[in-house]
Amino acid sequence: MIILIIGGSASQKLAANVAKELGETLCPLETKKFPDGERYVRIKGEVEKNVTVIQSTGFPQDENLIELLFILRTLKDLGAEHIKVVVPYLGYGRQELRFKDGEAISAQLVSNLIEESGADEFISINLHEDSVRDFFNIPTANLSAMAPIAEYIADKVENPIIIAPDKGALGFAEEIAEILGCNCTYMSKVRLGPDKVETRIVDVQCDFDSEDLDKVKKDSKVNIDSVAGKEAVIIDDIIATGGTIVNAIGILKEHGAKSVDVCCVHPVLVNDAVLKIMAAGARDLSSTDTLKSDVSSISVAKLIADALR
Ligand code: R5P
Repeated sequence: MIILIIGGSASQKLAANVAKELGETLCPLETKKFPDGERYVRIKGEVEKNVTVIQSTGFPQDENLIELLFILRTLKDLGAEHIKVVVPYLGYGRQELRFKDGEAISAQLVSNLIEESGADEFISINLHEDSVRDFFNIPTANLSAMAPIAEYIADKVENPIIIAPDKGALGFAEEIAEILGCNCTYMSKVRLGPDKVETRIVDVQCDFDSEDLDKVKKDSKVNIDSVAGKEAVIIDDIIATGGTIVNAIGILKEHGAKSVDVCCVHPVLVNDAVLKIMAAGARDLSSTDTLKSDVSSISVAKLIADALR
C-alpha cells in the first residue's frame, strides 16, 4: 500500500524524516502568504488514497492551523480516502476546559475543525491533557516521546536523577526513570499567572535503599536530598516562558546537584526562555523536534513512523 506523506510548513523536516523511515513518498506542497496575510496552499503531487499529513500547530498557531485545515480539505477534494493527521504539537491543546465562566474551550473547537476538515485518524505526542482525545469521534493516539528522550539522556549522562518540575510531569519522570533504571523526584508548583510560577520541594517518603535496584524499579521516587552530588535531568512536556524550569534549576542547585540538564517534548520557548534557562545554570537544554527550535535535537521521526506502520 502506498502512503503519501505531506509535511505542512511547520513540520517539513520532520515529515521528510518520517517518510525516510517508512520508505514512503513525500508530496511536494506549496504554501505562501498573500500580501494581505491570507494563507495559500497548493498540493503539487499526485494524491494517493492513503495520505498522512504531518503539521504541528505551534507559533504562529492560527496560521499553522488554518494551513492544516486547507491541506486536509484539499486532499479530500482531490480523492484521498483515508487521511491520518499527525499533529506532533497541538496548539490550543491546553484549554480543554472552561476554567473561568465564558471562556472558549479552544481545544474542543480545534479538534472539531481538524476532524471536520477531513481527518480520519488523529495522532499527537504528549498532549498536555489526554482528555483532548475525547473531542474526536475518529481513532486517536497520544504517543509518548519519553523513550527517545531517555535514549538521549542515556548517551549524555552516566548516572542521572530525573526531576519533574511539577506534579503533572511526574509521570514523564517515572517513565524515563523506569527505562533508565534510575531514581526520580518531583516538585510542587503553583501558577500565579501566565508567566509567573512558584515552586516548592515535595517530601517524598522513601523507605528503601536507593542502591537496591529491584525496589527502585517498583518505586523510583526519592527525596529531593538525593540530588546532592548527582547529575540532575529535568523533564517537562512544554517549556513556554521557562519560569517553571528556572525555579526548578534554582532548587536543584540549592540542594547540591552537580549539574542540571533540561529536556522537554515541546519547545514552545517564548521570547528569551532559552537564555533564562541557561543563565539559571542549566548545563544543556534539549527538546524533541515536535516544534522547530535551536534546541530540537531529539527526533520523534521514528516514534511517528512506528505508529504509522
Ligand atoms: C504546565 O503544566 C506544563 O507542563 C509546563 O510546566 C508549562 O507549560 C511550562 O510553562 P513555563 O515555561 O511558562 O513555566
